[in-house]
Amino acid sequence: MDVLLTGGAGYIGSHTLLELLAEGHRILVADNFANSSPEALNRVRELSNRDFRFARLDIRDRAALFGLFEAFRPQAVIHFAGLKAVGEGEARPLDYYETNVSGTMNVLEAMNAVNCARIVFSSSATVYGEPEYLPLDESHPCHPASVYGRTKHMAEQIILDWSRARPGSGGAILRYFNPVGAHESGRIGEDPHDVPNNLMPYISQVAVGRRAKLSIYGDDYDTRDGTGLRDYIHVVDLARAHVAALGYAAARQGVEVFNLGTGSGHTVREMLRAFSEACGRDLPHEVTGRRPGDIAACVADPAKANRLLSWRAERGLAEMSRSAWRWQSENPDGYARRA
Ligand SMILES: NC(=O)c1ccc[n+]([C@@H]2O[C@H](COP(=O)([O-])OP(=O)(O)OC[C@H]3O[C@@H](n4cnc5c(N)ncnc54)[C@H](O)[C@@H]3O)[C@@H](O)[C@H]2O)c1
Repeated sequence: MDVLLTGGAGYIGSHTLLELLAEGHRILVADNFANSSPEALNRVRELSNRDFRFARLDIRDRAALFGLFEAFRPQAVIHFAGLKAVGEGEARPLDYYETNVSGTMNVLEAMNAVNCARIVFSSSATVYGEPEYLPLDESHPCHPASVYGRTKHMAEQIILDWSRARPGSGGAILRYFNPVGAHESGRIGEDPHDVPNNLMPYISQVAVGRRAKLSIYGDDYDTRDGTGLRDYIHVVDLARAHVAALGYAAARQGVEVFNLGTGSGHTVREMLRAFSEACGRDLPHEVTGRRPGDIAACVADPAKANRLLSWRAERGLAEMSRSAWRWQSENPDGYARRA
């Protein structure tokens, strides 16, 4: 298929790009590098030995977006582009609404203009808010507790309404749990520009000496060892889910929502131990108080994706840690320094 990837230079986008190229799809990546580097795209070219098109573009720029859609005329869009830092969203809400909500509307309008009727959208488990029960299935109510979560939930609603008003359209809304790890080559991975918001990149940066120690926010939760438990999914498993979702959406009408996780969780201490094994040494850490708003546990029920997408997360914690360590140790400054 001719597929346009917004945000395709980012962490999840670059891994998905590699999988789509391997399947023979023709791709155009549109990214403004707000949180990524052109080097990620160079490395995907090198790893895949295939070429793809690229446009440096901001999805908030409607005219540029419409021009790009006219020129490429995609059959489907995978819409990764967005801002994703929860704390930053609270400080800069309008930027988050503009990029994540208005940006998504621009993408849908540009799709309408060229009769493109298939979309796969990057959403997040954060749309659920505090769990009323676990594991979370797709019919769990959504009460997002952050600006970021609300932007994702609004974008979901807009996509569902768009599709209802456009007979023949279809798509998949993918609610990711906690993507971690990197491609086994160690050539592409997660490269946060600022202080990492997520556990695994933070641990990686401690391991490589960029950060002094890991703070464990609370060890008195009702979990196996008292530390917070989350459903971590290997980014390559996640990337493959996009290939499956694209095929699913292409063959059907209507938009379906899917949870993408493993269905089981790991605690902060388990993540730390697995990463210490991968890098061969104990890592400095300290237990501090709970962070406001944090919850004890969050785990996906991925049964719907397993069943309808014929997809399953296959990579375990050791592979997540090994691949993350390989990426971080071979690229201590991410894409800034060419390995
Ligand atoms: N990584 C996670 O933990 C996680 C979890 C759930 C959902 N998501 C969602 O998945 C998507 C991809 O996440 P990621 O982890 O790969 O993040 P990322 O920041 O690495 O990738 C996002 C990409 O979008 C680009 N971008 C941002 N604003 C843009 C704009 N206005 N115009 C064009 N490009 C723009 C960035 O430069 C980047 O390449 C995001 O929408 C994110 O909200 C991520």
